[in-house]
Amino acid sequence: MVGARVVACCSLSIMAFMAAAVNAGSVPAVYVFGDSLADVGNNNHLLTPIMADFSHNGIDYPGRKATGRFSNGKNSADFLADKLGLATSPPYLALSSSSNANYVNGVNFASGGAGVSNATNKNKCITLDKQIDYYCGVYASLARSLGQADAATHLAKSIFTITIGSNDIIHYAKANPAATPSQQQRYVDALILTLSGQLQSLYNLGARKVLFLGTGPVGCTPSLREMSSTKVCNVVANAMAVQYNKAAEGVLSGMAVQHPDLHYALFDTSAALLRYIDQPAEYGFVEAKAACCGLGDMRAKIACTPLSSYCANRSAHVFWDFYHPTEATTQKLTDTVFDGSAPFIFPINMKVAAKCQLILQI
Ligand SMILES: *[C@@H]1O[C@H](CO)[C@@H](O)[C@H](O)[C@H]1NC(C)=O
Ligand SMILES: *[C@@H]1O[C@H](CO)[C@@H](O)[C@H](O)[C@H]1NC(C)=O
Repeated sequence: MVGARVVACCSLSIMAFMAAAVNAGSVPAVYVFGDSLADVGNNNHLLTPIMADFSHNGIDYPGRKATGRFSNGKNSADFLADKLGLATSPPYLALSSSSNANYVNGVNFASGGAGVSNATNKNKCITLDKQIDYYCGVYASLARSLGQADAATHLAKSIFTITIGSNDIIHYAKANPAATPSQQQRYVDALILTLSGQLQSLYNLGARKVLFLGTGPVGCTPSLREMSSTKVCNVVANAMAVQYNKAAEGVLSGMAVQHPDLHYALFDTSAALLRYIDQPAEYGFVEAKAACCGLGDMRAKIACTPLSSYCANRSAHVFWDFYHPTEATTQKLTDTVFDGSAPFIFPINMKVAAKCQLILQI
């Protein structure tokens, strides 16, 4: 035991003090957990139908390269790293296969298809539980290479981002189109109970600065919209996204009371993204319903593949393919994650969370 660690940070009352301490709290690394919104190539290493390492994905990525990102360009993991002045954390399955893997500069465990529940896309992705298992190994490796105390300090200064829940809700809404509000609530409650254990595991393994990216209005993804005869958003899925984000906030605020050294920012992706969908022109978009890349009605019947057609101006579309936002959408959302305020990002934004100062008391 080196000494009691006291973290003076992030309570709104001391924000002015923190603003003066920019460098003291700088973020050394980002550890990324989640689904296809944050996958930067893990699924390339799996035998799974949930893949994106082919065109037209990556058409706007540097070098027009398909990397395994489910996007025309960069995704949220890239933009968050950019904002923090860091390189994008590499995919765990690429790193771990090298003989001298270095985990100090961050790791990305996110996997397309993953959900809170192990049952969501079972055997087709790295489930969140499995991502946490992998991270447990990374934690042990860091403790060996840096020493226990330095590893704990390094991780406490790092940002842990979690983007999870969309796949669980999409699966449930598709399988249970006639679910009553109380059935929906019961499913969300079960997800939240699991999520709460997962977040506690990350805390137990050193996570102290958590950015939780809630689920978007998944009922408005082109895939779910296309299923309706009038092409409207799926209300069951959207209602569940709202319930889920609200309950996730409850879990995190409860954890922060229990663990005063935990600091979190929650992004209500649903509220933030609905603005673009409801008033596209206000936010620089022309098309907020149809996918840019794909085949069939609204380019939403069939996934984006090399055989699909795609739109000329990706920046004018909210959605890239039948489930995923364009790079332009993700970039705008990340701006709000970093610089925005409630009701979109709270109780603090990422810029403030990044500057949190860690005080070590011996
Ligand atoms: C999910 O799978 C992990 C292994 O990846 C296992 O440790 C965990 O107990 C499972 N959770 C449930 C609820 O079945
Ligand atoms: C593409 O769309 C964006 C956003 O709507 C717009 O600002 C831009 O002018 C468009 N580019 C072209 C070449 O039409």
